[in-house]
Amino acid sequence: MLVFFIFFFILFNSSHSCPLTDNYLSSCHCGILTNGESYIKCEEKVLDQIPTFKRSFPYDELILSNNNIHTLPRSSFDHIKTIRRINLENNSLSFIDNDLLRLLGNYLEELILTGDDQINSLEFLLRYPLKNLRVLKLDHFDLSQVNLERVLLNMTRLEVISLRSCQITSVPNLRNVQTLDLESNQISNSISLTTSYVYLNLARNMISSIDLQKNFNLKSLNLSENLLTSFDFAMLDDNLSTLNLNSNRLLAINLVNLPKSLTSLSISKNLIKQMKFSKESPSNLSTLDLSSNQIRTIEENSLFKTLTSLNLEQNPLECNCQLQWLKTLTISSKRINAITWNCLTPTPTSFLTSDFQCKTKLKLPRVVLFNISYAKISSDKGLFLQWSIIDEDNTLYAIQISISDPFYLSPKFRSNQTEIFLSNQIQSNRNYHICLILLHKYARDKYCREFLTDKLIALLSNEIILEKQHRNTLTTNYDVNLYMMLISSCIGGILAFLLIFLCCYLCFQLHKVNQKKKTVKNLSLYSRNVTNHYPIYQSHSTTCPYHHHENLSNSTDSSQMDTSLSTTNLKHIYQTIDSQDYTNFKRENQNQLFDLWNESLRQKR
Ligand SMILES: *[C@@H]1O[C@H](CO)[C@@H](O)[C@H](O)[C@H]1NC(C)=O
Ligand SMILES: *[C@@H]1O[C@H](CO)[C@@H](O)[C@H](O)[C@H]1NC(C)=O
Ligand SMILES: *[C@@H]1O[C@H](CO)[C@@H](O)[C@H](O)[C@H]1NC(C)=O
Ligand SMILES: *[C@@H]1O[C@H](CO)[C@@H](O)[C@H](O)[C@H]1NC(C)=O
Ligand SMILES: *[C@@H]1O[C@H](CO)[C@@H](O)[C@H](O)[C@H]1NC(C)=O
Ligand SMILES: *[C@@H]1O[C@H](CO)[C@@H](O)[C@H](O)[C@H]1NC(C)=O
Ligand SMILES: *[C@@H]1O[C@H](CO)[C@@H](O)[C@H](O)[C@H]1NC(C)=O
Repeated sequence: MLVFFIFFFILFNSSHSCPLTDNYLSSCHCGILTNGESYIKCEEKVLDQIPTFKRSFPYDELILSNNNIHTLPRSSFDHIKTIRRINLENNSLSFIDNDLLRLLGNYLEELILTGDDQINSLEFLLRYPLKNLRVLKLDHFDLSQVNLERVLLNMTRLEVISLRSCQITSVPNLRNVQTLDLESNQISNSISLTTSYVYLNLARNMISSIDLQKNFNLKSLNLSENLLTSFDFAMLDDNLSTLNLNSNRLLAINLVNLPKSLTSLSISKNLIKQMKFSKESPSNLSTLDLSSNQIRTIEENSLFKTLTSLNLEQNPLECNCQLQWLKTLTISSKRINAITWNCLTPTPTSFLTSDFQCKTKLKLPRVVLFNISYAKISSDKGLFLQWSIIDEDNTLYAIQISISDPFYLSPKFRSNQTEIFLSNQIQSNRNYHICLILLHKYARDKYCREFLTDKLIALLSNEIILEKQHRNTLTTNYDVNLYMMLISSCIGGILAFLLIFLCCYLCFQLHKVNQKKKTVKNLSLYSRNVTNHYPIYQSHSTTCPYHHHENLSNSTDSSQMDTSLSTTNLKHIYQTIDSQDYTNFKRENQNQLFDLWNESLRQKR
């Protein structure tokens, strides 16, 4: 045992045991690793040719990386023909003899060579069979014209092929190869991989899209620094565990069908704004790098709960209540370090110091009082409506009143109006369905009440200060649809004119007939007598108001709003129309009914 130890000590630690000629003993040494592998290693940047070897000895590895060796003549390795690994990385080789490996075929397992970008033939690999070659790493060769599938066909033991910076334009199909590294080549456009490698590095190419349908063995894929604009995570098979998509041009990612096997995902330095996650399926993801993107907010998702590493650095995060969950998560999960994350809005600040508050929710206008009474003013009986609206955010722009049966929709009133007296067609002991419609920025809200005109109360006319300029009631505050509606209003106007004309004619005739009837007084104020029959509802005058909210976008009622616009300027027609006429009239154009109402408007602060 001791003898053995001494033997090895002498063999590997004394420079004399190295099979090198004396002039290389100062720059090279021989050694043995703890795993028993022996090597010959020369210092960096001193050699300009392969050192000369005295005798052949079964060394495992020859390391000559980072030197200035440019040529590999025929007999370079003749005296170490049992070497298993040769590393000539970072030597700018310009010449390799085609017979270089003629004696190494039975032993060589690993060959690493760096060219000068000019060597464009792999004849030195082809000429003699390299039955045991497992690892081949060439970089800075010109393999643009080399048929790699043919060159590598007989190397049935090949497992790892690295061809970096070799001007390759397409991904070769190399059976049995597990690891293929094609970093920094010229693979461009859309590619479709038909051979399934286990480890595939396609970083630093010009790939714009990739089809991985048949890559069921793929465990690791590096696509960083390409030109990908989209990536379909659903095509990935359930073997992939590491995926690198850094430095591409992805705008959005859909992680709904993330393979369960994926544990590490890097999508740093893209243009991601939108992300979609699966709601339920748990993932195995533990590392997620989304740094240097355009992410503003992230929907709360269970995927984040299992992460051990999350990077959101260099994103314009919107730190409001919608992202509060993430802050909570970073605090509870001590593994996620958010110290370098920043918020852009509401104020630029660091993620951990932001308060994650949301601006208080917009308050929509609401009715706090809607009082209806059946009132008599002078000789007129009608409905006196009073309301009070709280509109903290000033979104209300108009108010309308609707009454059921026959349907009546008032013109739009100013938002600060608080009462109105409708004196027309209101009958005692009838049930009315009366709605206050709030037209505000986001929707139209309806507050309705049932009202039975059973108790008549007398109001003094001076209790109601009439709105003198009710013609101007609607001069402002139209919604943007107004202009669209104007055209239809014009057409309606023409029709209306014809009908009014007909109406006036009828009225005139009736007026003549009813000469003896009492002439209506207080015309300038609010009275108008139009007889009409409202249906009677069985209901209580004290029914609670109900509230109905419609979004503008869904509103099917817009036609009603339209028609009300054509009656912007209230018309006063003081003649009586009998019910028969009214019914006919209604059939012709119910809209005209509006004109037959007498509204007396009053404003109250
Ligand atoms: C080759 O050079 C690069 C940079 O010059 C260096 O990163 C790499 O480690 C070198 N390779 C070896 C095997 O020393
Ligand atoms: C592969 O090996 C076969 C015989 O084993 C030989 O005929 C053929 O030329 C070789 N192909 C290459 C490309 O070396
Ligand atoms: C994963 O790869 C192994 C071989 O490495 C293969 O047998 C298996 O079918 C693959 N799994 C899936 C889900 O494709
Ligand atoms: C992918 O390639 C890039 C660029 O060479 C490299 O920085 C990164 O470490 C690689 N990532 C993985 C997971 O292999
Ligand atoms: C999830 O990860 C664990 C451990 O990393 C692994 O054993 C398991 O197979 C993975 N699940 C899937 C579906 O790949
Ligand atoms: C509603 O109007 C009636 C009649 O004018 C009045 O007696 C009552 O006090 C009003 N209610 C409210 C809450 O203003
Ligand atoms: C209602 O608002 C209009 C402006 O929209 C204003 O001219 C008018 O004085 C207001 N009336 C009251 C009673 O506040």
